[in-house]
Amino acid sequence: MHPLARRAFLEKAAWAAAATSLPRWAWSNPLALGTNPFALGIASGDPTSDGVVLWTRLLPTGPGAAQAPMTVHWEVADDAGFRQIVRRGQAQALPEWGHSVHVELQGLQPARWYHYRFHAGDATSATGRTRTAPAIGDLPARLRIAFASCQRWEHGHYAAWRHVVADAPDLVLFLGDYIYEYASPKDASGLARVHTLRAAQTLADYRDRYALHKSDPLLQAAHAACPWSTTWDDHEVQNDYAGELGRDGDATAFNAMRLAGWQAFYEHMPLRAASLARGIGALQVYRSLTWGRLARLHLLDARQFRQWQACRKPGSSGAGGVQSDDCPALADPTRTLLGATQEQWLDQRLAEGAAALGQAAPHWSVIAQQTLFSPRHYPSGKHSTDTWDGYPAARGRLLQSLQHHPQRNTVLLGGDIHQNYVCKVLADPERDRSVVIASEFCGTSISSRSGTSQDKVDAVVRHNPHVLLARCEERGYGLADITPQRWTTTLRAVDDPLRPDSGAHTQARFVIQDGAPGPQRDL
Ligand SMILES: [Fe+2]
Repeated sequence: MHPLARRAFLEKAAWAAAATSLPRWAWSNPLALGTNPFALGIASGDPTSDGVVLWTRLLPTGPGAAQAPMTVHWEVADDAGFRQIVRRGQAQALPEWGHSVHVELQGLQPARWYHYRFHAGDATSATGRTRTAPAIGDLPARLRIAFASCQRWEHGHYAAWRHVVADAPDLVLFLGDYIYEYASPKDASGLARVHTLRAAQTLADYRDRYALHKSDPLLQAAHAACPWSTTWDDHEVQNDYAGELGRDGDATAFNAMRLAGWQAFYEHMPLRAASLARGIGALQVYRSLTWGRLARLHLLDARQFRQWQACRKPGSSGAGGVQSDDCPALADPTRTLLGATQEQWLDQRLAEGAAALGQAAPHWSVIAQQTLFSPRHYPSGKHSTDTWDGYPAARGRLLQSLQHHPQRNTVLLGGDIHQNYVCKVLADPERDRSVVIASEFCGTSISSRSGTSQDKVDAVVRHNPHVLLARCEERGYGLADITPQRWTTTLRAVDDPLRPDSGAHTQARFVIQDGAPGPQRDL
């Protein structure tokens, strides 16, 4: 770990050790905690063809337990009854890592489902199901991915996760805003629920915030159902932060908060130790997953390396929109969203996908990232500054990369905007007649409100022929059914976000045929 990151980390750890062992969010949540050390659930993630990461975070119970390491035993079995155990071991849950546990399994069979659980003292966790990816050279018949983002606690219950579990995906892609850092609004009208936590600033605050979200049984069930691969967006630290800069546009003041948020993110996600290779202060979030020859998924980090939003004033709570005439900085060709190193890394991954010949080429190249990639030309002439619209030169470089290294099929997935957008991705986003080179599904939120109206969204659709669908105030998730011949995205929306027992319905369905870029509406 970098010495500076280590020092900040130790300061945070000392702060946390001084905190009480009783979680402050316990009073925020009507769920009874009891003395179950596994009350925050279990998870698995980032599958390879021979392994997967197992995760839990123990809640220390009893006097002095918050400062003490705890030993946790884990088991992996072929069957839910744990009669055919294929791996077992133990790990230390350390207080300096919030008693989180990340177990990296290796040597498992490819394309297989497994069951896992943890033991600590007399307690046994829930049993989770997880799976490995297919062998590198194999072409599996199908892959089902659920993609989701944005689960603000107050704005809705997590019924969407119950429906995800019922849909039985192989993998969940979570594309950012796992937590929201805000205190609950004073006016609770129209909210599903509130909490009593203050706006998050310290490591203890962020740990409490993850604990609050992870106390939800529907979210826990979704983690236990299949492996997840997660990336982050802004609310894991602060609304619309950009690289080193927080709300005030000041790196020094923001640094401790960012480190705290990032450490808590690592502690609560099923991430590999490799993500810590350069320390918490340079957490490695962008990475690739391979699903045999069917799909290669590239998860991006569009927060850590981005420049300050164009023409955003320091002290503003969010990035907002600008008129391009009022903001020449928007057109600056050097502006970056991913940072030069990540851009080169993605270009290299795409080059590999293009160079793999014939049968060896991945059928589907998936770019899973935080926000809307395709442009939204507003009738008012405004541009969003926090999405790719605020970084048009960076978008142009990625489009060039895709044209220099043509993939067999490219699909972009996103989140952040709390609306469903389905788009044809054009080689030149400023020309309506430009050739279609990829497809985009930017998914709505699990629970967060959109903050706009369908009238305004409809106006965007009228001005943007590449936008095939745009819907707001529908919360849910996307389901991608992927076969060698076609990609099918089903947009699922919950009937009532304020009810944990809400039903769900299919809002729309789109299909992409192998070799024919651009989604076609199917339902
Ligand atoms: Fe969000």
